[in-house]
Amino acid sequence: MSSVPPPAPAPAPPVSVVGIGADGWDGLPEASRRVLREAEVLIGGDRQLWLVPTDTCLGARVTWPHRLRESVPGLIAAHEGRRIAVLASGDPMFHGIGRTLAETIGADRIHVLPHPSSVSYACARLSWPLEDVETVTLVGRPLASLTAALHDRRRLLVLSANRHTPGRVAELLREKGYGGSRMRVLEQLGGPYERIVDGTAATWDDAVRLDALNVVAVDCVRDPDALRLGAVPGLPDEAYEHDGQLTKRYVRAATLAALAPAPGELLWDVGGGSGSIGIEWMRAHRTCRAIAVEKHPERADRIARNTLALGVPKLRIVTGPAPEALAGLPTPDAVFIGGGLTAPGLLDACWAALPPGGRLVANTVTLESEALLAQWYARHGGELIRLAVAQAVPVGGFTGWRQAMPVTQWSVTKGTEQG
Ligand SMILES: C[S@@+](CC[C@H](N)C(=O)[O-])C[C@H]1O[C@@H](n2cnc3c(N)ncnc32)[C@H](O)[C@@H]1O
Repeated sequence: MSSVPPPAPAPAPPVSVVGIGADGWDGLPEASRRVLREAEVLIGGDRQLWLVPTDTCLGARVTWPHRLRESVPGLIAAHEGRRIAVLASGDPMFHGIGRTLAETIGADRIHVLPHPSSVSYACARLSWPLEDVETVTLVGRPLASLTAALHDRRRLLVLSANRHTPGRVAELLREKGYGGSRMRVLEQLGGPYERIVDGTAATWDDAVRLDALNVVAVDCVRDPDALRLGAVPGLPDEAYEHDGQLTKRYVRAATLAALAPAPGELLWDVGGGSGSIGIEWMRAHRTCRAIAVEKHPERADRIARNTLALGVPKLRIVTGPAPEALAGLPTPDAVFIGGGLTAPGLLDACWAALPPGGRLVANTVTLESEALLAQWYARHGGELIRLAVAQAVPVGGFTGWRQAMPVTQWSVTKGTEQG
């Protein structure tokens, strides 16, 4: 007798995610309207649900609970088997609910019907090519995130958290030497109450009452005397507050080149000092992440100030001595050891934490640590180099070389062998 396997249960229908703008129902294409009319359950924020007419869209209306992300799977499961339409503001896949849904219930469970995003509208109003613009969101993110995007003549679109955001943006621009930047606040884009408020950061009038739904367009203009920060590692040493414990500019640039950050990767910066390696790792790409481990609390506080000043407030700081302080940290893609090499077990702990393919870079200026690096180099290979930077300085009426302490650097990629 042969047994026939029971038929697989029918897959759950996809959850429709419908983008809707400030122009409401009038601005929706027929395909989106049909989905909303046919939906048995409409889920959204109050503002979006209000835009959908009750006489033609008869589905049950459910407002998102306060703790949105945690409640998504349960809420969708509670209506399983019914036609669900989730309402999103603008383009659901641009800083929107589409991401949360894809990450919680699965990308293959959703069907997205986009609407122009606020950024598309802003570019349309300003005649800015979207591909040349950098977008920075300050919704749920610290204001300091904007700092890393500041470059002369750069066009930025800042997604505001509320009506106070433009004033705070103006303040930051002034503080960073970008007071001459033109700022345009674009409110209620695409809706009947659309408005553009124009000004400069230097003269921005905080008394003007703004709408909470706004995007700030910034044409960056750097004051000639403001410190210029480039887009690649090797920022000037003056960019950092430090007590001398700083990997200096040229060695820092070479160190970042060896670490080779790629988008999304996580660095452990062990012996963070002033934080420069982790900071420049995170500035390499906005998705790069770093954890600085620093045993001295006052230096850890200094790292925090440097992260704010250089636009990477999300860098995580662990205060305490390695290797103990490394316990429980998420697996890194790369480890930099800038201090503590001779602490018992530190190198072993960093090596053990690295997955196959992970990179390790260690710098030292002492003979004791250099001896250790030579042993590890003999065992695991990689590259052992010496960086000796000399700078021309006045000598009497002439010019001579001042030699900095040579830095020994070991860099290695962990193979598939363990141990
Ligand atoms: C030369 S500095 C690193 C400079 C850093 N890369 C920078 O550019 O700012 C070395 C740092 O390692 C820290 N350190 C030394 N041993 C440590 C350990 N076992 N755990 C954590 N930090 C340590 C020191 O306090 C010092 O701040």
